[in-house]
Amino acid sequence: MYNITAKTEAIRQAFPALQRAHNGYPVAYFDGPGGTQVPTMVTDAIVDYLLHHNANTHWAYPSSAETDAILDNARLVFADFLNCRPTEVVFGQNMTTLTFHLARSLGRQWQQGDEIIVTDLDHHANIDPWRDLANEHGFVIRSARFDTRTGQLNLDHLEHLVSKRTRLIAIGGASNALGTINDLQTVINLASRSNALSFVDAVHYAPHVLCDTKALECDFLTCSPYKFYGPHAGVLYGRKTLLQNLNVPRLAPAGSTAPERLETGTLSHEAIAGSAGAVNFLASLTPIEPRRAALKATYQKLHERGQHLTTRLWEGLHSIPDVMCYGPPPSDARTPTVSFTIRGLTSEEACRKLSDYGLFLSHGDFYASTVVSRLGVEGLIRAGVACYTTEEEIDRLLIAVRQISK
Ligand SMILES: Cc1ncc(COP(=O)(O)O)c(C=O)c1O
Repeated sequence: MYNITAKTEAIRQAFPALQRAHNGYPVAYFDGPGGTQVPTMVTDAIVDYLLHHNANTHWAYPSSAETDAILDNARLVFADFLNCRPTEVVFGQNMTTLTFHLARSLGRQWQQGDEIIVTDLDHHANIDPWRDLANEHGFVIRSARFDTRTGQLNLDHLEHLVSKRTRLIAIGGASNALGTINDLQTVINLASRSNALSFVDAVHYAPHVLCDTKALECDFLTCSPYKFYGPHAGVLYGRKTLLQNLNVPRLAPAGSTAPERLETGTLSHEAIAGSAGAVNFLASLTPIEPRRAALKATYQKLHERGQHLTTRLWEGLHSIPDVMCYGPPPSDARTPTVSFTIRGLTSEEACRKLSDYGLFLSHGDFYASTVVSRLGVEGLIRAGVACYTTEEEIDRLLIAVRQISK
């Protein structure tokens, strides 16, 4: 077990990927917003499942019963993670696939001319499933603007878009391009006052803010464990009554009760076992009971460390001529994800050069292409702070950015 109050070094021991070197430099992974590294607790859960319990579900022999138990346990783990009931946890391939599936189901109960609100600040996984649905059924899409200077969503504009025909507001918890944390409560309350459903894309939010579906009172929320130390998988929370009554595309012989009725085909049992392992890894960083309390304490500690490292990175980048940072300053509500550009280099050129120093950063639009086009830049260089990021790695990044920007 790793205690968060112990040095980051102890946490780092859990991640074999951190032993990697490139060009003689230890690799510093700043690519967490695209997908974090994985601790051995997660790979152990995956290997244990595949080597000792591998089977399909609901049959009358031990490894099948063990598979059922592993999936049931994973729902309990995610119920703690999202603060919901185990029967409100749907597993799937990734957030995008789950969102397309949910959108298709919701579309069956709406009428031509009904309206869906999305935002310009979102990843396209929370825009295009709704846009596609609208094109198919004759629904109307309205998109809330954001302020390119502050990186903040324009909530007045969003409110202005709501009408009697609004059926759903799709909102991101946090921007994967700019790090902005949105005022979810205000938007969810607005949806509920307007008799519209609320759908939260928490893919970039869940790694940094502990989701609380009870407090938020949202109708749907999605996250992706591979962004918080787990394997590639997706998780959808849905309010029980909604999940039970949705007209979902499903096979006639498949389970008809929620949440299984939303799960198509055979799931990646190993990824679900590993996803539960990721939540348990986060909980293990603060060894207290119950699991939700441990998660709360871990998130608080990681938030404090993240704030410190983000401020150091933000201020360091600001002191380098020809570097421009985007999104809210560290004093505002934000994730520890900092995007910037370097004059004279494309984002890809910059990231290629940085990788020569063992610094792994992502570039481009990260599928938040509306954000990047509104900013009027070719692409962004994105540095994400994770639980294994050190002050020394931040300093190495700042030195390298200064070097390549000369
Ligand atoms: C904010 C946000 N939403 C949605 C997605 C899509 O998630 P998935 O890859 O699980 O479909 C991503 C992936 O980067 C993301 O950052």
